[in-house]
Amino acid sequence: MNILFSNHSLTNYRQLLSKSLAFVPTMGALHDGHISLVREAKKSCENVIVSIFVNPLQFNNPEDLKKYPRMIQNDLELLKQAGVDAVFLPSYETIYPPNQEFNIQLSNNSVESVFEGQFRPGHFNGVIQVLHRFFSLIEPDEVYFGQKDLQQCMVVKILIDEYFKHIKFNIVETKREQSGLAMSSRNLRLSKNELQIANQIYQSLLALKNKEVYSQLACEHEIERLNGFGLKTEYLNYVNLPNMVVSSDKNGNQAIVYAGFLGNIRLIDNLLL
Ligand code: PAF
Repeated sequence: MNILFSNHSLTNYRQLLSKSLAFVPTMGALHDGHISLVREAKKSCENVIVSIFVNPLQFNNPEDLKKYPRMIQNDLELLKQAGVDAVFLPSYETIYPPNQEFNIQLSNNSVESVFEGQFRPGHFNGVIQVLHRFFSLIEPDEVYFGQKDLQQCMVVKILIDEYFKHIKFNIVETKREQSGLAMSSRNLRLSKNELQIANQIYQSLLALKNKEVYSQLACEHEIERLNGFGLKTEYLNYVNLPNMVVSSDKNGNQAIVYAGFLGNIRLIDNLLL
């Protein structure tokens, strides 16, 4: 497995490839959800590159950035076992050279400003900057993203449509623990008791998915139930995709989206309907 630290080594690696390249961007602290992206990527491309970079620009909460789990040796071992060809491990300066400006904007910016955009101001702007940079440097044929970050997927789709039309965009289904809890690097920061409570999020999503009639009232009922367990829900809504507009209309491409805090850990999840 090639471990690439600089743009120079990345360019050399890229130039030697004659067959297709899939890219899986990550922030490390890898779990089976990330590995499932690698598995899917390997099915359609000869080469798979994974990046590990905790992108400060997308953290609106400095404490969250500081506490984001970092376990690089373990990550490299998992990626090697998964048969990844290359890992890109850039420094902050490699991604954001001090003499350059990073201000990529999407002309269709409606998806960026709701839900995660509202509760984490600047988050998607940071995601857009880092992914624009990665896609430009790596020049992948395909990219793989997890459905757990559903709104991120919708934003990345716009980024690709506007700037990288040649890249094939793939969404991979959320990996869950046996309890139903969506796998997330942030779960590492939950206590045993908190893990039990966090499982309730999936129960609420399922309950809402199975409703005969979708309604905001049903969401509010579930918010109350979850908050009774100590979760501080930020949002729980039926939305239309890809535009992430709140809608209880059962016809169409829809999802239920959740975000909330358990202690000081922020958890998100969703189900496609
Ligand atoms: O989903 C993530 O882990 C991050 O937002 C990403 C896509 C790696 C960009 O930093």
